[in-house]
Parts: sequence; C-alpha cells; structure tokens
Amino acid sequence: MLAERAAEAVECCRFLAGCTETAGATTRTFLSPPMRDVHAHLTAWMTRLGMTVSVDAAGNIRGRHRGSAPDAPTLFIGSHLDTVPNAGAFDGILGVAMAIALVDLLSGRRFPFAIEVVGFSEEEGVRFGVPFIGSRALAGTLDAALLGRVDAHGASVGDAISQFGLDPRAVPAAAVTGAAIGFVEFHIEQGPVLDSLDLPLGIVDVIVGSRRLDVVFTGAANHAGTTPMSARRDALAGAAEWILAVERLARDTEGLVATVGEIAAHPGAVNVIAGTCRTSLDVRHPDDAIRGSAADALLERAHEIGSRRGLRVDVEPRLDQPSTVMDSALVAQLEHAVARCHQQVHRMPSGAGHDAMIMAGRMPAAMLFLRSPGGVSHHPDEDVRVDDVAAALAVGHRFLDDLERGRAWST
Ligand code: HGY
Ligand code: MN
Ligand code: MN
Repeated sequence: MLAERAAEAVECCRFLAGCTETAGATTRTFLSPPMRDVHAHLTAWMTRLGMTVSVDAAGNIRGRHRGSAPDAPTLFIGSHLDTVPNAGAFDGILGVAMAIALVDLLSGRRFPFAIEVVGFSEEEGVRFGVPFIGSRALAGTLDAALLGRVDAHGASVGDAISQFGLDPRAVPAAAVTGAAIGFVEFHIEQGPVLDSLDLPLGIVDVIVGSRRLDVVFTGAANHAGTTPMSARRDALAGAAEWILAVERLARDTEGLVATVGEIAAHPGAVNVIAGTCRTSLDVRHPDDAIRGSAADALLERAHEIGSRRGLRVDVEPRLDQPSTVMDSALVAQLEHAVARCHQQVHRMPSGAGHDAMIMAGRMPAAMLFLRSPGGVSHHPDEDVRVDDVAAALAVGHRFLDDLERGRAWST
C-alpha cells in the first residue's frame, strides 16, 4: 500500500507538471489558468476519498477529512501549488500530493482530530514579487496592501482573485478560526545535504529567514557609439559592479547567501547605454541580525557605487521574513515517528523558505524533508525517489497514530 500510494503521489506531481503557462517548461504562478487544472485533478482525488473540498478566496484548495467528533481540532497538512519559472515537478506540490496520499492510506479511518489538506495558491512570489500569499491568508496576515500589489501587466492581487472567479472581499474568511493542532509540511530538501549523507529524510529545526528587495539604478540612456566612456552614466555597468560586490560579501561571510536573480536593463538595446537597471536582491542567513546588517551593507555599497558613477539608487523592499524555529513538540513527535519507522533521525535547517514559516505565526508548525537527488531544485532536473516518499508516508502515518494515542496537543 505504501509503495503504491508513494508511486501515485510522484506520478501525480509528474502529471501536474504539465499544467503550465509555458509550453515545454513548468511555470505556474498565482491563480494562472493552469492552476484550475491542478485544482480539478486534486479535487477528483480528494472527493474519491470522501473529503470535503473547497477553494478559499485566496485561491487555496482545501480538502477536509473530518474527525470523529464535529468539534474536533484540525491538523493541517500541505504545501504550495505554484512554481518558479522553468521549475521542477516536486517543489511544493509533492507536499500536497503526499498529504492526500496519507489520507488515502487511512482508508476512511477517523481520528479525534480533522485533517485538512491545503494546497497553497502562491508561495514563490513570482507574479507579484512577494511570497506566501496563500499561507498568509490562512494565517490571517494577508493585508489590504498586499492585495493591492500589481503584476507586470498592472493587474492587482485582488484582480487576479476576481479573474479566477473568487471574491477578494472574502479573503479574511480564509483565515483559520477553529482549534488547530498544527501544520505539517512534507517538502523536498532542495539542497545537497540529505543526498550527501545518503539519508532519505530530514527533520527541519529552523527555516532560514530572507530579506528581499528591488534595487534600481538610474543613469542616463545615450548613444553607444558617440558617447565617450568618461561621459557616461551607465546604469547596467553600475549594477554589474554592485552584483559582484554582492557575491563577494556573501563569499566572505560565513553562512550568508545573497543572490541577484532578476535584472532588467532599459531600454535594452545593443546600441543604447542603459538608462535604468532594475535588480532583485535575496539575502539569507539563519541569524536575523547578521542577515539584516549584511543587507544594509549591500545597500550602502549600492549607494556608494551610484554616487561615484552619477547614478540614482532606489530601493523597494519586498520581504523581510525572520528565521523561524519549528515547534519543538511537533519536531519531537516527528523524530519519534521517524525513529519508529527505523529511519535515521537527522535534524537540519532549511535554506529554502516555506509556508511553514508563515503558518508558524498561527499554529505549531513542523516540516519533514525528503532527499533531493543531486541536490537540484528550482530546475527541471529536480527529482525525488519513490522509496523516500514511501518512507515519508510511513512516518506520516506513524505521526498520526502517535498524535491519536498521545493526544499530545494543546489548542
Ligand atoms: O525561495 C525559496 O526559498 C522557496 O523556494 N520559495
Ligand atoms: Mn521554491
Ligand atoms: Mn517550496
């Protein structure tokens, strides 16, 4: 049964990777049309299991396996359904497929708690530049300012919700109100650690925080052939000097990673000096103070480069997410379940951000990592092993048994 459900979950992810905005690649952003197909596929599976399925006003799909009593508290299990551009098949969606597979394994068994499977509508922050729209709705922290953010086409989050056939005014109703035991997220590690240790599973103790900003350099567009080098205010050259400074600081600071993943030069022609250059910055470190001072140092560097080159530098904050420690009781319960399933217990930080860090603001949260073969993610070569998924489902099943036996929850 475990191997079959594991294979079904992996196959589900591989199939749904075809629900994409771009032919030949997997790209699925907030409430884009292919998300409907994902919802339809997952709804069919959950309905077959007798779950009650709904889509909340933030576009999260939610499947409920009711508890043995109507007023039972809820255990939430889920992850996100959106992807980065040209993504792999498993980041996020594997956690949703595994949650459904876990309910499938129960064969209708009821617990003294309900199980709510959640497929979050948006975690990556690709379309609107800020992440965690779906989980913020459940945690009750999705504010009006975020609903007003616009995408590259000028559509707001609220517009996207309406175009999907949902009502943005109902977003507050998506927040979890009843008794919640906690949130558990199955997720691929997305890094090389478990693969290098030849371990199938890891238990997350802390999710590393991240600070994201746009840094815009503004100089003067001019003719590439007639403008002397000494007379230029080249925004792209200034950004390039700064990007190397970002890399240098991160290489020189233990535990710090910093990335400029987006760059857009304007007007973007071979024979025109760039007048403006928009870049993104993503800075991560487990220690909030070190991460904050590193980001501040990089912004000072940008201004220093700008003043030396006659460029204006504008900074637009996008995210300042603190590092988030997972709930010790849930972590201990996951460790117990891993040990009882005869797997090695390995605690580890998550370098990637996850919905669990948002849900942790509303209820106890914990994560179980699955090995990423080759340590690759946010790439089509992202993979997962079916036997590791089976091992994780066995842990999930044991976790539910222990939760029922131990009733070790306080709500
Ligand atoms: O960016 C991240 O860390 C996650 O994959 N959203
Ligand atoms: Mn991701
Ligand atoms: Mn993810």
